Amino acid sequence: MMDRRDFLKNSMIAVAGAALFGPMVACSKPGEPQKPVHPDPGLQPLAERKEKMKVLMINGSARADGNTFCALSEAASVFQKQNIDSEILQIGAKPVRFCIACGACMAKKLGKCVFDDDLCNVIVQKMAESDALIVGTPVYYGQPNGGVMALMQRVFFSAGQLVQNKPAAAVAVCRRGGATAAFQSVNMMFQMMNMPVVTSQYWNIVYGRDKGEAKLDTEGMQTMRTLASNMSWLLQNLNGKPVPEREASRQFMSFIR
Ligand SMILES: Cc1cc2nc3c(=O)[nH]c(=O)nc-3n(C[C@H](O)[C@H](O)[C@H](O)COP(=O)(O)O)c2cc1C
Repeated sequence: MMDRRDFLKNSMIAVAGAALFGPMVACSKPGEPQKPVHPDPGLQPLAERKEKMKVLMINGSARADGNTFCALSEAASVFQKQNIDSEILQIGAKPVRFCIACGACMAKKLGKCVFDDDLCNVIVQKMAESDALIVGTPVYYGQPNGGVMALMQRVFFSAGQLVQNKPAAAVAVCRRGGATAAFQSVNMMFQMMNMPVVTSQYWNIVYGRDKGEAKLDTEGMQTMRTLASNMSWLLQNLNGKPVPEREASRQFMSFIR
């Protein structure tokens, strides 16, 4: 049996080992950075996961320097002042798949989409490293454009565990009309994913048709800056706080008797 002296000796060896070799680390391939082992990365307070927080911003437009980019860039300038990293990921003009409801991501517990030939799993990977999400979309026929919805539906369906508890906001950019419907469509996804929706002084809508016109929408630009300020405030206040407890199993009721 271990007496008090043995216990102290073993503890000192353990402390010396930790001092020499650092915290417990996961096995990794040579040359790869080693990460401390956490029992459940999803439950780690933000402060323990990394020092600097990051907001991932999806630009749903195919126009690289279009109006959605202008709107998201305005938010990025505030994040920079708040010492929060941000990245604008543009979906571009390459084809994207839509969810075919194959269920393989669920059945195999992949945590990502089974199709790996477009940006879907890139977004999943970037969401794993990010603390918040903004989805910016041009308005097409009063809706978010098809590409951004197809990608985000697959991200949320396959990697729901990864996005929950992360603050989110939608941004809709249009020439004239349909922005509130598009804004609401994107928000509907966040509201099913346990993502706290961040608001601004107005709905996150920016007006402009030709590239760069959005910068002339002074109220829209201010709305973007306020959104980024509010998101920064929320992230800073969440930092280090544990995530809420929820019931382990979901009730799915189909109304069919
Ligand atoms: C196919 C298509 C449909 C559009 N539908 C709408 C619309 O319903 N309402 C609107 O105000 N603008 C509409 N627009 C205009 C764009 O929303 C607008 O030009 C926006 O600034 C584009 O953003 P971007 O520069 O980031 O691509 C449409 C544009 C395209 C190409």
